[in-house]
Amino acid sequence: MFSLLTVTAALALVPSVWGSNGTASSYVSSLPLNTQGLFNESMEWMDDFYDAAAGYLYDESAATALRHETRSSAWYAVGLLARNNGSDVENALKIIVNVCSAQFKDPADQWYGDYQQEPEEPMLGSPTYPPKIYNSWDPNWRGFVGTTLIVGLEEFGHLIPANVTSFIEASLFNSTKGDEYRVGGVDGDNLYPAYSNPAIMRAFVSGWTGRRLNDSNMTISGETYAQQIIDLFDRANTLSEFNSGTYTGVSLWSLALWSKYLPADSVMTQKGPTMVKYTWEAVAQLWHPQLKNVAGPWDRSYGFDMNRYLSLMALHLWNYIGKDKSSMISKPYVMSHSADFAWAPLIAILAPFMETLIPESVFPALSTFSGEHTFNSSTFSPPFDLYPRNITAWLANNISIGAETFNETVIGGPATNPGTFNPALIQWDTGNGIGFITLYATESHVVAEAAPGSLNLTYPDGNSSSIFTLIVSPFKAMKTISSIADIQGLTVNITGTINETFALSYAGGYGGADTVINNFEFWNFTYSMPQNSTAIPHLHLSVELW
Ligand SMILES: *[C@@H]1O[C@H](CO)[C@@H](O)[C@H](O)[C@H]1NC(C)=O
Ligand SMILES: *[C@@H]1O[C@H](CO)[C@@H](O)[C@H](O)[C@H]1NC(C)=O
Ligand SMILES: *[C@@H]1O[C@H](CO)[C@@H](O)[C@H](O)[C@H]1NC(C)=O
Ligand SMILES: *[C@@H]1O[C@H](CO)[C@@H](O)[C@H](O)[C@H]1NC(C)=O
Ligand SMILES: *[C@@H]1O[C@H](CO)[C@@H](O)[C@H](O)[C@H]1NC(C)=O
Ligand SMILES: *[C@@H]1O[C@H](CO)[C@@H](O)[C@H](O)[C@H]1NC(C)=O
Ligand SMILES: *[C@@H]1O[C@H](CO)[C@@H](O)[C@H](O)[C@H]1NC(C)=O
Ligand SMILES: *[C@@H]1O[C@H](CO)[C@@H](O)[C@H](O)[C@H]1NC(C)=O
Ligand SMILES: *[C@@H]1O[C@H](CO)[C@@H](O)[C@H](O)[C@H]1NC(C)=O
Ligand SMILES: *[C@@H]1O[C@H](CO)[C@@H](O)[C@H](O)[C@H]1NC(C)=O
Ligand SMILES: *[C@@H]1O[C@H](CO)[C@@H](O)[C@H](O)[C@H]1NC(C)=O
Ligand SMILES: *[C@@H]1O[C@H](CO)[C@@H](O)[C@H](O)[C@H]1NC(C)=O
Repeated sequence: MFSLLTVTAALALVPSVWGSNGTASSYVSSLPLNTQGLFNESMEWMDDFYDAAAGYLYDESAATALRHETRSSAWYAVGLLARNNGSDVENALKIIVNVCSAQFKDPADQWYGDYQQEPEEPMLGSPTYPPKIYNSWDPNWRGFVGTTLIVGLEEFGHLIPANVTSFIEASLFNSTKGDEYRVGGVDGDNLYPAYSNPAIMRAFVSGWTGRRLNDSNMTISGETYAQQIIDLFDRANTLSEFNSGTYTGVSLWSLALWSKYLPADSVMTQKGPTMVKYTWEAVAQLWHPQLKNVAGPWDRSYGFDMNRYLSLMALHLWNYIGKDKSSMISKPYVMSHSADFAWAPLIAILAPFMETLIPESVFPALSTFSGEHTFNSSTFSPPFDLYPRNITAWLANNISIGAETFNETVIGGPATNPGTFNPALIQWDTGNGIGFITLYATESHVVAEAAPGSLNLTYPDGNSSSIFTLIVSPFKAMKTISSIADIQGLTVNITGTINETFALSYAGGYGGADTVINNFEFWNFTYSMPQNSTAIPHLHLSVELW
């Protein structure tokens, strides 16, 4: 944490930070210390991936035979503008011009105004490279790259020559136009206002670009879309895409853009700060400082333990409680999903402003466990949810249980991805790493409730062929397990309408019957119903730390 007063005063004494030729070090060193750490570490890491000849970053997964990657290149470019050392600005402009030049230009294409994913790709839509949404093109990249370009113009516009500025504006115009093609349920697209992270970015880029280019239709389109997001949020002061280590991070950052870069007459300026506040307050309730994880339920997660995958929430937390407490390990690039570290400069740039929107009471709860408590809330993701999802969580010393009840039109949450949808889970400190038990989604209708020491699961529409698949962490202290009783650090009693003879399998990187999920190895305890059972499928876990 830093004192706002001190930084404001410091900025006043160093006007060159804002001057037309303010230098890099002056901007970066004006950031709070934790934020400088986040910024510097991520930039130093990306420096090693920069291919100066190409004017792009190599793909940071380092598993792509020296191909390049567009989106992280754009993030790096804005980081370079912020750092402004040596040839940084020159390289930044080269990247930005590359990225915008390779934007799709034909208004007749569904992917119009989107950015290609890699400069190596063949012409999208040609016979041998067919357009496949979220595959050969990603509609969300309009928003990811568009928001990044806007932060570049807003914060470092003085470093960007006029002709490049107009080129970026033209790119933002096309990106916004193309994004208007997106209608959930049409042409295989899924952008509903409930798809929080890209929806928030879409409203912002449209509202900002419309104002910048005096296109009132574009402005109104952004405002109207924002209002739909706000209406959903206001139902229970929650994001529809709820509690995701990665995507709550995107939504919070984009809501900070709503709050910072639009004029007072925008509904986004008016509501953004409140939405940021409520979202951080929920994070403060669900973040477990002892486990360094947000408690469940997670609508979309790229792993089962934030200490082992790189989440954007950890990057936000780094700013306010420091790297050590944030769930990041000392070498971020070793973590799973580490390519998201490329977002860090953008999170750092917005961090001082974000801090002004976070209620004071949030910081201590992020830093130190505030003691046993429960959390009750709800959220709603039409058209997938038939009714709002009720959310319950319980956090106590070294353990959390979180769950959500839902009846949806799909299996695996609105993203229809059971690998990322974790509607009911338990996490605890095994004494040797974080343990987890999470329900793998096999049903579209589940009543799931968390209570002290209890996780209660019912499938109201299930039948004798329903199964309960519990994904369970491997344990360092017992490498080979054969029953629930072997779970380390936690006593688990299981009761229900199930056949107590379970199936056990392993998902290993090098073997076992199942496939790792988001790089995580796990045990799979699957309970079936007794043959011909007419009972409603029900499973109850009663747990106690050793
Ligand atoms: C820009 O740099 C010049 C020379 O380096 C300096 O005289 C001038 O004050 C600077 N302007 C601003 C706004 O910092
Ligand atoms: C971050 O890097 C800048 C130079 O770009 C340097 O001035 C600053 O001291 C560094 N901050 C930290 C915390 O390492
Ligand atoms: C901007 O102008 C410079 C100098 O004339 C030129 O080299 C560069 O190619 C221009 N860039 C764009 C994007 O128009
Ligand atoms: C924007 O789209 C138009 C076609 O509508 C195209 O002519 C123009 O080159 C595009 N601009 C950029 C920056 O891609
Ligand atoms: C804005 O929308 C109106 C009504 O649809 C239309 O007549 C007008 O041409 C549009 N303006 C621009 C700049 O697109
Ligand atoms: C969700 O919770 C509310 C308030 O407790 C309750 O009225 C509603 O019936 C619950 N919905 C479901 C589906 O359980
Ligand atoms: C759940 O959804 C199904 C349709 O998929 C519907 O038949 C059922 O009535 C719903 N149950 C509740 C409690 O809303
Ligand atoms: C579990 O949920 C079922 C169905 O909602 C309910 O009947 C039962 O009482 C619950 N059990 C516990 C221990 O909460
Ligand atoms: C878990 O095991 C069952 C067999 O018992 C299998 O059908 C299912 O695919 C496995 N689930 C996962 C996520 O690996
Ligand atoms: C329970 O599961 C075991 C193992 O699959 C099976 O042999 C047994 O018949 C099942 N019992 C019932 C009542 O379905
Ligand atoms: C289940 O039903 C089938 C068909 O009616 C029957 O053959 C079988 O014996 C039944 N199994 C049990 C365990 O009752
Ligand atoms: C588990 O069941 C045993 C035997 O019924 C009981 O003694 C114990 O308290 C239970 N533990 C939990 C955590 O429910």
